[in-house]
Amino acid sequence: MKNESRFATIIGTGFKVPEQTLSNEDLSRMVETDNEWIVSRTGIRNRYIASKDDTPWSLGAYAAKMALEAAKVRPNDLDAIIVATCTNDAPFPSAACRIQASIGASTAYCYDVSAACSGFIYGLHVANMEIATGRKNVLLVGADTMTRNIDYTDRSTCIIFGDGASAAVLQESPQPGIIDISLGSDGTQAELLKHVQDPRTRAFEGKTYAPLPSIKMEGRPVLRFATRVMVDSCLEYIDRYKLDKNHLCIVPHQANQRIIDAAADKLQMQPYSNIDRFGNTSAASCGIALHECVQKGVIKNGDHAFLVAMGAGLTWGYALMRWNGTPE
Ligand code: COA
Repeated sequence: MKNESRFATIIGTGFKVPEQTLSNEDLSRMVETDNEWIVSRTGIRNRYIASKDDTPWSLGAYAAKMALEAAKVRPNDLDAIIVATCTNDAPFPSAACRIQASIGASTAYCYDVSAACSGFIYGLHVANMEIATGRKNVLLVGADTMTRNIDYTDRSTCIIFGDGASAAVLQESPQPGIIDISLGSDGTQAELLKHVQDPRTRAFEGKTYAPLPSIKMEGRPVLRFATRVMVDSCLEYIDRYKLDKNHLCIVPHQANQRIIDAAADKLQMQPYSNIDRFGNTSAASCGIALHECVQKGVIKNGDHAFLVAMGAGLTWGYALMRWNGTPE
């Protein structure tokens, strides 16, 4: 949806990961794998793992406070809070309502969106629409604790995911920050990557425990799909908006370093990568990468940033924005 007179721009970002880490060496003591295989096939060296007290909304509240501070926006000046998550600790209340209570944003209305690893871009789309239709300040959080759903006997999925949260404050602005957003879904491919209730029960010390949920993934087709989306979407926007590669930062969902490398090859430019430190943090991933790009000066005021993500559904989304900086 476009509204000629009301634009949205991101004016603050933040992120939070849990304290506990899980290295490739740790994993190689749990399943038949090794550091060399994981690094060469995924680029991942480390990931952060939620403790029993961490939830998408508890991590999200930290990230939100950091983003609000950078944006110089008070919680009570927020009109809406949107959380992209597919792993909240309960179907209701929403993670967004939990974050509202944690940060004290009593004037905001709150809701969650679910698009798995594409969540940050889907959330960006609805946050952008909120601004276009009259809201002034909107908080977007992308947060997931995927490792709660991991089967740690499945070596092809347990090496990939980590937990975390990211946040962005969008504000109404006279000049476009968010320039364009494209979304897509293909539900016919839903079986490729899904959350299932594991049929196995677990017996421990004479008791039988409820089955654990887990993630089932067909890695190869998902890898091919993600690579195609990333390359094609970048080329489409570079061509449509005649983007200057010297002032363009590509901020991709961190799914696999091989996807990022394939895009680098085709585009002849290096997308941002932090997958070695965080693994795939699902809906948090693009926002963490964006925050780091801003903090490290990889994105400078006036530059364009291209965000792209893909995930279960299948879903995908990409966005072009101009980085207008944070308030002085
Ligand atoms: N350690 C060692 N060997 C492993 C392994 C591990 N952690 N995981 C799988 N293997 C083995 C397989 O069993 C297979 O062995 P086989 O040839 O004897 O059958 C071999 O390695 C190759 O497996 P394959 O699945 O073809 O590897 P791959 O190159 O496709 O890499 C993924 C596997 C999961 C890393 C890769 O497919 C991937 O990253 N896919 C996309 C994941 C993703 O992005 N998901 C989220 C989307 S948002």
